[in-house]
Amino acid sequence: MIPMAKSKQPSASEPTPNAIQSPPAEVRYAAELKLLQEMDADKTRPGGWLLTPQSVVDFICGTEGQKIGPSKSNSMAISEKFVGSRDIVQRCVVTLAGERGLLLVGEPGTAKSMLGELLTVGISGTSALAVQGTAGTTEDQIRYGWNYAMLLDRGPTPEALIPSPVMQAMRTGKLMRFEEVTRCLPEVQDGLISILSERRLIIPELLGEQSSVFAAPGFNVIATANLRDRGVSEMSAALKRRFNFETIAPIADAEREAVLVSSRATSMLTEDERKDPIDNALVQLLVTVFRDLRSGRTAEGWQVQQPSTVMSTAEAVAVTTAIVREGAFFPSGFDPVSRLPGHLLGVVMKDDAKDRERLIAYWNGPVRRRAEAGDPLWKRLSELRIVLEA
Ligand SMILES: Nc1ncnc2c1ncn2[C@@H]1O[C@H](COP(=O)(O)OP(=O)(O)OP(=O)(O)O)[C@@H](O)[C@H]1O
Ligand SMILES: [Mg+2]
Repeated sequence: MIPMAKSKQPSASEPTPNAIQSPPAEVRYAAELKLLQEMDADKTRPGGWLLTPQSVVDFICGTEGQKIGPSKSNSMAISEKFVGSRDIVQRCVVTLAGERGLLLVGEPGTAKSMLGELLTVGISGTSALAVQGTAGTTEDQIRYGWNYAMLLDRGPTPEALIPSPVMQAMRTGKLMRFEEVTRCLPEVQDGLISILSERRLIIPELLGEQSSVFAAPGFNVIATANLRDRGVSEMSAALKRRFNFETIAPIADAEREAVLVSSRATSMLTEDERKDPIDNALVQLLVTVFRDLRSGRTAEGWQVQQPSTVMSTAEAVAVTTAIVREGAFFPSGFDPVSRLPGHLLGVVMKDDAKDRERLIAYWNGPVRRRAEAGDPLWKRLSELRIVLEA
């Protein structure tokens, strides 16, 4: 008998073939999407939509542990992905079925991009049609470009045209995401006006029927804008009128934020990096510090000087992940709380040198008071004030 070749097990240092660091939402949640699609098979929904509006909201906000499905054997609970008000998500879904685009605005790290990605996946089944707005974004990236070799050889033909993600979304009746729209020059942003109002893109170089692309049912635009960088103030009034604005605020509830930080950090770490569940007390401590500095007020009602940088949930996830990873790499005598002040300095010290003083003032105030009240974790944190002065 010929011995079967043993399949080679990838070693810890060798990545799994075809592994990707961050799978898009349509891959990550493929099983949930398949189930919701099966449930919606006979239901009416807006033209071009993958799911019904109700299922899109369930896909994003979850079913609170309740199993749903077409049959008992084919059912599962849908996970909560966006932590926030269901009403906001519902309004976003209603906007996207209408004649205006959706503009998600808010402070950095409040999950605007994540919500945009989830909406495109729930409604169109793909998050791939996207433009990342930068100061260098050109009109071609919103409208269309040309394959210049072909253009010179044959003149303007449909084959020589390179469609933008916007054009592809219009043709196929899908949603497209426009990330950080306000970072583009206003005249480039304004390329969206006619697309949103007429739902048609004109190609003057082509003739006859080929000179217009009409949006198929299902097409719409989800844009995001960050209030910290270049805000919406520079956006033209004409473009603003083509969007419904939704402001995404940081997570209101401390407990929900802590649960999210823990679960997001867990999902970002490999099994080697996360041997035990993430220490709940550490996450509580970290989230409390972030919330105090973000809001300028502690739960006890004490005033806090806010740093100029944003203390976002996304940053809290990044710090938690870094501390747990450090513990896995350098386990000998590792004290996670001792790492917190250094990471906080890294988060806070981005623009303004005075932010270090604000962090020290926080240590002199709330951190010391909580330590004096006898809480051992705050006591430990209080002792680490020296790290901030280095
Ligand atoms: N309300 C929330 N629900 C779920 N995850 C959240 C929430 N707020 C923050 N997060 C976490 O923050 C991460 C970053 O979110 P995202 O990049 O979408 O933010 P953003 O608002 O687009 O930020 P930026 O303005 O910097 O682009 C998410 O992947 C998630 O881990
Ligand atoms: Mg974003």
